[in-house]
Amino acid sequence: MNSPVMQGLNLNTPAFVKNANLIAWVADMAALCKPDSIYWCDGSEDEYNRLCQQLVDAGTFKKLDPIKRPNSFLACSDPSDVARVEDRTYICSEKKENAGPTNNWMAPAEMRATLQPLFDGCMKGRTMYVVPFSMGPLGSHISHIGIELTDSAYVAVNQRIMTRMGKAVYDVLGVDGEFVPCVHTVGAPLQAGEADVKWPCNKTKYIVHYPETREIWSYGSGYGGNALLGKKCFALRIASTMGRDEGWLAEHMLILGVTSPEGKKYHVAAAFPSACGKTNFAMLIPPAGFEGWKVTTIGDDIAWIKPHADGKMYAINPEAGYFGVAPGTNTLTNPNCMASLDKNVIFTNVALTDDGDVWWEGMGDAPAHCIDWQGKDWTPQIARETGAKAAHPNARFTVAAINNPALDSAWDDPAGVPIDAFIFGGRRSTTVPLVTEARNWMEGVYMAATMGSETTAAAAGQQGVVRRDPFAMLPFCGYNMSDYFQHWLDMEHKLEDTGHTLPKIFCVNWFRKGEDGKFVWPGYGENMRVLKWMIDRIEGQAQGTEHVFGISPTYAEINWTGLNFTAEQFKTVTSIDKAAWQKELELHSELFQQLAYHLPAELNATKTKIEQRLAA
Ligand code: GTP
Ligand code: SPV
Ligand code: MN
Repeated sequence: MNSPVMQGLNLNTPAFVKNANLIAWVADMAALCKPDSIYWCDGSEDEYNRLCQQLVDAGTFKKLDPIKRPNSFLACSDPSDVARVEDRTYICSEKKENAGPTNNWMAPAEMRATLQPLFDGCMKGRTMYVVPFSMGPLGSHISHIGIELTDSAYVAVNQRIMTRMGKAVYDVLGVDGEFVPCVHTVGAPLQAGEADVKWPCNKTKYIVHYPETREIWSYGSGYGGNALLGKKCFALRIASTMGRDEGWLAEHMLILGVTSPEGKKYHVAAAFPSACGKTNFAMLIPPAGFEGWKVTTIGDDIAWIKPHADGKMYAINPEAGYFGVAPGTNTLTNPNCMASLDKNVIFTNVALTDDGDVWWEGMGDAPAHCIDWQGKDWTPQIARETGAKAAHPNARFTVAAINNPALDSAWDDPAGVPIDAFIFGGRRSTTVPLVTEARNWMEGVYMAATMGSETTAAAAGQQGVVRRDPFAMLPFCGYNMSDYFQHWLDMEHKLEDTGHTLPKIFCVNWFRKGEDGKFVWPGYGENMRVLKWMIDRIEGQAQGTEHVFGISPTYAEINWTGLNFTAEQFKTVTSIDKAAWQKELELHSELFQQLAYHLPAELNATKTKIEQRLAA
């Protein structure tokens, strides 16, 4: 294929790129964005090293000490660009009702007219990287290909870790294969001779999805889910609409395997909102009292789940790496995660220690001095006096799944793993008990749909306020939330028809606080005790105790070996306060009013039943 020359710009199309639609699209985007040059990523290690060195030279990356943290880098972002921007995220379906009341919406034509002048010349003075990636194993029937055009080398190297990125994608794509076009710009064109900053971005931000044409356009941010477009934009927002149309699910869920001492293996998928414990749960190490039990990671953030003709639901992790929360991670709470971070890591917005390593709050003993994520001196005394954080609360690491010592042998299996249970869990300091099993699919969907959680640093905006976060998908559902509920309800019948038992549905809350304001439940590895009770339920070996919302364990049904947790403490994390629940149900009503259009009638009917039981 000849390389067309556009307005003096050579497309530089390599011989291995043979897809005519792709080449035409890159030419169009280059004509619009007007980069100085175009670079087609091949995904090689050589290229990764070169781009990382380039980022070091530009001051975006600091190379960490090669002995302490081999082949690892630290990037610190602009203080205005540290998390997903939900208020700037749009679902631009033709009809507003198809985006639904929980998404920002603008008509596609209007949005295109808005973005056109912003993208015009947005890459001036920069290189446009063409980043080919596969969500899911390369060439598998469940996988989907995306091409991200970005003017950020930081995004290109992160994508190499987070996805299957590189030349082989073009082989799969062939001459006429389909791909999801993803355009990303930091929105900071450089005038001739203008020096770049370390973290270019723009005050104006747009994270835009066109579900009907399956396109993603992202403007103004270089951070996380705003910029690594394979993740939330593609694998959740666009994929959820694909799933609606094709009969499968794209979910904000970790996937783990848990193997008993007898060698029986179970798989669970768990949806917790952002920064609410997915990575931790996916890498859990069973505590004392669980000798012979093993937990293995299939995924830590996103699951694509398909009903199969054998009556089971199979889940795959479309990603190839983890973009995980650093603060709070340490060798006691998550040893597997810490081991994953030994080498080949990109850290973003953590602190740099004087010996060229990284530190964050909750990692362990604070260093006497370090450079905080904003480049300022930080000492424990400064922290005490000013409250300054060494690491930003949404500081993250980017690391390949293959770094994880607990990686499941089936993590890359295109067939996926059969799901035995779904877990939904928000961050609630009050009201919601430690664990509740839904009595049936309907009740489970109700629990998930009405889930509330305190907001976290993963999204820009106020933190710690309880909001409804249905299925942990509030910021990630690419279509009308009520239609999404219906889609989940429909799954029951899809599987029922095959005569198989559905996965059980549980609701958890690791975050109840005592009067002293501290978490009562020890969490982390100790969550195994709850997971084991779920397995006992699956096996019919625990009876539980039935209450207004479902079934919870009795104190005696939990294995307490190795943990001092009294019946009194257990009561604090499992008790049901009627008055609090009456208030909670008012919040469910508010949610259902907001979602009234297309809301499945069964949800209101289920609420009425709960209200009646509560009043009884
Ligand atoms: P995203 O990547 O944003 O989708 O988040 P995630 O759900 O993977 O969150 P992650 O596992 O990284 O946890 C985020 C925060 O929750 C960290 O600060 C953890 O220390 C804390 N956390 C995780 N599990 C527990 C738990 O069982 N109990 C308590 N109290 N905190 C936890
Ligand atoms: C989340 O916010 O749920 C994340 C991090 O997993 S980000 O990739 O920035 O969306
Ligand atoms: Mn997430």
